[in-house]
Amino acid sequence: MFEHLPALAPDPILGLSTAFKKDNNPAKIDLGVGVYKDEQGNTPILKAVVEAQKQLMETETSKVYITPQGVQGFIDGMLELILGKASPILLANRVAAVQAPGGCGALRILAELLKRCNTETKVWVSDPTWANHIPLIGDAGLEIVTYPYFDKTTASIKFDEMMSCLAQVKKGDVVLLHGCCHNPTGADLTREQWQALAKLANEVGFLPFIDLAYQGFGEGLEADVYGLRLMAESVPETIIAASCSKNFGLYRERVGLAALITHNSANRDIVQSQIQYVARGIYSMPPAYGGALVDIILANENLSALWQSEVTEMRERMIQLRKLLVDNLAAHGASKDFSFINQQKGMFSFLCIAPQQVQKLRDQNSIYFVDSSRVNIAGINTKNVEVLAAAISGVL
Ligand code: LMR
Repeated sequence: MFEHLPALAPDPILGLSTAFKKDNNPAKIDLGVGVYKDEQGNTPILKAVVEAQKQLMETETSKVYITPQGVQGFIDGMLELILGKASPILLANRVAAVQAPGGCGALRILAELLKRCNTETKVWVSDPTWANHIPLIGDAGLEIVTYPYFDKTTASIKFDEMMSCLAQVKKGDVVLLHGCCHNPTGADLTREQWQALAKLANEVGFLPFIDLAYQGFGEGLEADVYGLRLMAESVPETIIAASCSKNFGLYRERVGLAALITHNSANRDIVQSQIQYVARGIYSMPPAYGGALVDIILANENLSALWQSEVTEMRERMIQLRKLLVDNLAAHGASKDFSFINQQKGMFSFLCIAPQQVQKLRDQNSIYFVDSSRVNIAGINTKNVEVLAAAISGVL
C-alpha cells in the first residue's frame, strides 16, 4: 500500500519550527510560525484563560461526549463577538454554526459542505494566501484559483486588478477573504474597498467565505470585523471560519467556529443539519476543553474585560514592534524603504524581499521566516531587533 508514496517536503510554515529547533546558533531568531510572543520570547497563557481554567476545574463534573455541534454557549458568545450583539442576522435566526477543531477544522468542514452543495464550485483565493488554505480547501476536492491581491514591488494591494478579476467569476463561485490581518501580507482592505467588494458580491452572486483568524490584532475587536459584518449584512449568504488560536492564545486546544449565514431561518435549520453531519463524518465532535474556556470568558463581564485588555496589549505591542523594526532598518542604512511595514496589520509583515534573500538570512544568520518573506512581528523584541535589522540590510 505505501511502497509507492513519495516523501513530501516539510510544511512551509511548521517545518520552520523544526529547522529552528535543530539550529545550534545561540543568536538564532524565530520569526516563522504565527504565534504571539512577549518581550522574553515566551507565549504565556492569557490571564483570562488561567482564570477560566480554574473555574472549569471547579465546575466540570463529567467528560461525557458533547455533540457534533459543540458547546452552545461558546457558539452564541462567538457569534456575538463576530457579528455583534444586536446583529440583525442573529435576530433573524439566519446563522447555522458549529464549534470546530480550530480555524483549520472550520475551514475544512466548510469546504466539505461546499463540495456537497456543488462539486463544480471554484474557490478563489488571494495571491498570495496562507499556505495551508490550499490543502485545507483543495483536498476537500474543490478547485482553487487565485485572484490578484498584493503587489510586491509597491507593497500594496492591487485592488483594481482584484475587482476586475472577481467581476468575472461565475455566480455561485466562492471567494475566500481574510477578515482582517491578511496572512501572509498584513495588507488589509480599507472600509471603502470592503464596500465596493460587498456591492460586487451582490452583483456577481459569488459567495464570500471569510477566514477570521486574528480578530483584535489589527485595529481592535470591533474595527477588525467591519468588512465581515458589512459583507454578511449585504449579501444573502456568507460563510465564516473563525479561530480562537491567536486572540485567546488557545493554539493547542484547537478552538474555532464554522458559521454559515443563510438567506432565511428555514434554510438555516437545513444547513445546520448538514454541517453537523459533515463534522460527525470527519471527527464526530470537537474537543470540548478550549471551547468551554472561551464560553466562560465571554459569558463573564469581568473575565471578558480582562481578556479584551490582554488582546489590546498584544495588538499594541505588535504595532510598536513594527515601528521598532522600521526605525532600526533605517538606522542600519537599509537600501530599501521599509516604512510600509507600519501600515501593515496584525501579526505578519511581508518584507517584499526575494526567496534567495530569505534563504541567505536563514543560512548565514540563523534568522527563520517563511520563504514568501513573511515575518512574525511578535517574534521581534528589543534584544534581537538590531541584529535582525543589520542582517536584513546586509542581504539587500
Ligand atoms: C501561521 O500562519 O503561521 C499560523 O497560522 C500557524 C499555522 O498553522 O500555519
